[in-house]
Amino acid sequence: MSQVKLIVSNWKMNLNFVEAKKLIQQIIQIKSEKSKVKHIVCPQFLLIPFVSNLIINNKIEIGAQDCHFKKKGAFTGDNSIELIKKSKCKYVIVGHSERREYHKETNEIIRQKVDIIISERIKPILCIGESVNHRKARKYLQVLKEQLKKCIPEKLSEIIIAYEPIWAIGTGLTPRIEEILEVQYFIKNFLIEYKKIPKIIFLYGGSVDSNNFNKIINNSHIDGALIGGASLKIKEMKKILTFC
Ligand code: PGA
Repeated sequence: MSQVKLIVSNWKMNLNFVEAKKLIQQIIQIKSEKSKVKHIVCPQFLLIPFVSNLIINNKIEIGAQDCHFKKKGAFTGDNSIELIKKSKCKYVIVGHSERREYHKETNEIIRQKVDIIISERIKPILCIGESVNHRKARKYLQVLKEQLKKCIPEKLSEIIIAYEPIWAIGTGLTPRIEEILEVQYFIKNFLIEYKKIPKIIFLYGGSVDSNNFNKIINNSHIDGALIGGASLKIKEMKKILTFC
């Protein structure tokens, strides 16, 4: 495979210090053998500086799972982009469906987050995806379009989009490859035409594991994957990272 693939591990609110250290050390062993993958690990906030120190001099990069849309202020419990940057994060996941659902994040809020992330020269990994009802009613492209329209500024040189159908996250269900490609094609055309963004890095996320990974990642239109549950298991990650 010639294309470099982007693998984003979304650890969500999992792993303590001991578990994170063990997993990272095991991943580093794998990484030293392979090069056609860029692996970004996104731990929960308190683990970020700890994991950053463990990956020094390795090819793994670090990302955050969220950030606040203001630089600083009275926002109890939130995390600023300044400290995320200082903790060596090069990426921030934004707009994940769990944030949209549990924290009531709207497209408008997500757009403000995208703006502040970009202003600090960090790369947003923007998650978009439709619910099962929208898929069944065949309204999914409409929903995705609305998310793209509202969450992304115009004229960026590139953007990373993670297409994560909500019904596929943590369920073991995945869309057929043709369904993923239909969305990829739609997103790419929309962003080129309406947002004047020439380069779209398209990731798929939702129940990716070592069984379905090959089929998804082998496609030249898919630039990588955002992986939740399987990213916590070294056996899974070994298969995934050595495939690329
Ligand atoms: P999953 O999560 O791989 O466990 O489905 C993906 C995600 O939520 O990013």
